[in-house]
Amino acid sequence: MSSSRTIQVLHTPDHLFAAAAEEFVRVGKDAISAHRRFTVALSGGSTPRGLYAFLAKQHKKFPWDQTFLFFGDERHVPADHDESNYRMVNETLLKKIRIPAGNVHRVKAENRDAHAAAAEYEEDLRRFFELKNDDFPSFDLILLGMGPDGHTASLFPDSQALKEQSRLVVANWVEKVKAYRITLTLPVLNHAAEVAFLVAGDDKADMIEQVLEASATPPFPAQRVRPTEGRLLWLLDEAAAARLTC
Ligand code: 6PG
Repeated sequence: MSSSRTIQVLHTPDHLFAAAAEEFVRVGKDAISAHRRFTVALSGGSTPRGLYAFLAKQHKKFPWDQTFLFFGDERHVPADHDESNYRMVNETLLKKIRIPAGNVHRVKAENRDAHAAAAEYEEDLRRFFELKNDDFPSFDLILLGMGPDGHTASLFPDSQALKEQSRLVVANWVEKVKAYRITLTLPVLNHAAEVAFLVAGDDKADMIEQVLEASATPPFPAQRVRPTEGRLLWLLDEAAAARLTC
């Protein structure tokens, strides 16, 4: 399977969430029929809240018992903290669907040592995907967002994690927020069968134009997500796509 890139522009954020849910369900059902399970790394931040709420409301009968949820990144906070991506997903989705608790693999970021939390999550991935030595997991779907600075997951511009080529998960010091974040690394993102970015809002329009239509040196982190053999899908609302020429 060669890599491909698709850009879809939706009228409003609600149309974006509906399109993202349709893609989630399509990829999930294909994965389950192909290999009896659907593995997904969920995005944090605020944009995907609308997708998770849509899935919780419209897709209660989705085969959640064959769906395994991971996180693309997590803040270095307890699971009940306002900043926790797990808390956001739990409130918008997990509490509202029937998914076995064992199918949800959160980052135990309450661990005082961010590096230990990253190592523990990496071990969970290795065990779940039955990885040997230097293999990388291939998620059926990785959902990502993008910040106005071009970061994705917790891969921020000029941060150490961007250089990581062998670890699956690292604790990345993010100067901008003066905190560690635990994040999947670029090799994991680029081993996915499909990566779908969900980007909405006019505050992202400048960066969307740069990421999708220009080449920066060094490239923005979001530009470095190019699945080696997988599909790359950008789901944008019209506000985020406002400066695109194509
Ligand atoms: C996080 C995400 C991060 C997010 C972007 C966009 O933990 O916050 O992993 O990469 O996707 O910052 O965030 P918004 O969707 O809130 O704009």
